[in-house]
Amino acid sequence: MENRFPFSAYPNGWFAIGFSSDFKPGAVVTKHYFGQDLVVYRTLEGALHATEPHCPHLGAHLGFGGKVVDERLRCPFHGWCFDGAGQCVEIPGATRIPPKATLRHWPLREQNGMAFVHHHDGGEAPTWDVPVLPEVEWSVDRQVLWTVRTCPQEINENIVDSGHLVPLHRIAEASVLRQPVEDGPTFNVALQLLADGGIVGMPGLMNDVVLDVTLHGLGHMVVQTDVRNVGVRARQRVYCTPIDGERTDIRGVVNLQRLPDDAATEQAAELFYQAYVTDFIQDFPIWENKKYRDKPILSSADGPFMPYRKWCRQFYSLPAQ
Ligand code: FES
Ligand SMILES: [Fe+2]
Repeated sequence: MENRFPFSAYPNGWFAIGFSSDFKPGAVVTKHYFGQDLVVYRTLEGALHATEPHCPHLGAHLGFGGKVVDERLRCPFHGWCFDGAGQCVEIPGATRIPPKATLRHWPLREQNGMAFVHHHDGGEAPTWDVPVLPEVEWSVDRQVLWTVRTCPQEINENIVDSGHLVPLHRIAEASVLRQPVEDGPTFNVALQLLADGGIVGMPGLMNDVVLDVTLHGLGHMVVQTDVRNVGVRARQRVYCTPIDGERTDIRGVVNLQRLPDDAATEQAAELFYQAYVTDFIQDFPIWENKKYRDKPILSSADGPFMPYRKWCRQFYSLPAQ
């Protein structure tokens, strides 16, 4: 199929491969991202690892019958065992282990209820890390997973597209409050909205909302939502991970900053979660069917697209496939 975008479908950086809860102790799970299988396993003590799928011996796929044995992964075919660094540490019946008997493990982090791997086209090590987000004062994670026919750069471009919020998301008014600030792999922008409160259980109230949005690479967006007139603060996270050249998994997580009352916190958090889910999917038919305009014709009503696209270039080391 013809490539829709003038850049690779697989940017470099940290990308979510699942919610932490997807990986139970002792489980071996196959995930498919970046056009390849990853075999993810959690040891009985809780360490999470992601490895290339095929055994260096005779090529068995470890996701089909591979087993966690204590802290190791055992191949189903001839029983070779690998440690968490990917080194073969046991071969049944053999007295010597060939030094090249290794499985390539992906750099992996587990943070804020998510599991991430670091993808780099040239196999280079990470030069920055997954951010640590505060948890204590926030409600429990409410999670959702979608698969959409587009790529991470297009999804994240929403954050600078202040002009689509009124027509597509039915916001009353929207503008850029603070122009983008870039710092290496992070990109921050703030938008100001006037939004009808009906969607979060405050009908008839015109809410004064500030969205403070930060990207950490192209796989990790954090939106801090301040509803200033009522003093409520929510946090929406968006994790995009390319499956293949056409499709991307989007994981969403919503939290509400805790209110004095626990029941009120959960009730309001649920409303914000429902609003997020309802609102986010408005973009899907656009993303799935749009054409990527490399040189769009922009007007003064548009947000800062070009600074965003320029910032994105650092995540591609290969030309479009
Ligand atoms: S193919 Fe894995 S042990 Fe032989
Ligand atoms: Fe949108």
